[in-house]
Amino acid sequence: MTEEPASRELVVVARRALTPDIAEFTLADPEGAALDPFEPGAHITVETPAGAMRRYSLVNDGDAPATYVIALKREADSRGGSASMHAEAQEGTRLRVQPPENSFPLVEAPSYLLIAGGIGITPIQAMGRALQARGKPFEMIYCTRDAEGTAYRDEVAALGGKVTIHHDGGDIDAMYDFWDHFEKPTAAHVYCCGPSPLMEEIRAVSGHWPEGRIHFEDFKPVEVVRADDVAFTVRLASTGAVVEVPEDRTILEALRDAGVRTVSSCESGTCGTCRTRLISGTADHRDMVLMDEEKDSHIMICISRSAGGELVLDL
Ligand code: FES
Repeated sequence: MTEEPASRELVVVARRALTPDIAEFTLADPEGAALDPFEPGAHITVETPAGAMRRYSLVNDGDAPATYVIALKREADSRGGSASMHAEAQEGTRLRVQPPENSFPLVEAPSYLLIAGGIGITPIQAMGRALQARGKPFEMIYCTRDAEGTAYRDEVAALGGKVTIHHDGGDIDAMYDFWDHFEKPTAAHVYCCGPSPLMEEIRAVSGHWPEGRIHFEDFKPVEVVRADDVAFTVRLASTGAVVEVPEDRTILEALRDAGVRTVSSCESGTCGTCRTRLISGTADHRDMVLMDEEKDSHIMICISRSAGGELVLDL
């Protein structure tokens, strides 16, 4: 297993509401120490007050940052991530934060098309500002439900380049028509971050573009626990200790709560870091990593649960 990146404690130095559902948090070192720099498209992993690990894109400039600025939407079915941040992270709250990582970096290109949907504006706005500063041509399309729910509306409208803000009223049939931008492939690189229907649409209209031109940021702060999940137990083979996994916690979170050290990264079942050998029991696999032939013998503990009864883990 790979080592978890070193985390540090940061303090919320400012919090403001961007829309009724979206809040912006500014984090800084409590002693004013320097923070690691980052490029547009980077994210940080934050341990929320509820103990869940969530990745949030960085909004501010990362050359020599005194702060990390993130913005997040309160998701309706959130239990440990955005709901915990919205309810409990106030000015003065201390949070453990892992260093910036970037799985959505800007590459050199003659021009850029930036597409954001909803809270997906966070990395896209940072990219727009960076391209503007570099004098690079870009166009931006920012899709939201309505004006009231449009985070960073003024900042985005003030960007150079050609910016279109489109409201669809929550109606998928009123989605922006992207075809004119994609009909004839150009030398532009496309960066898209937003909800699944938007990204599926961009995949659909860009199928004939050369490979590597379309970039997606398809992580989102996944709410890995579902409303109908139930509690179960896991037993650690090395010590025989039994850990209760409540209905609203993942195995990983329950182990962490119990002081059992584990490693993780994405915490959404996509990276493979938390792969753990399953000695007995039947798993409800929810990850995107395991091959069918591995499913009797392994489990991704950040997202998968028991299909019924105790699981014995090689921990
Ligand atoms: S931490 Fe990435 S798959 Fe579990």
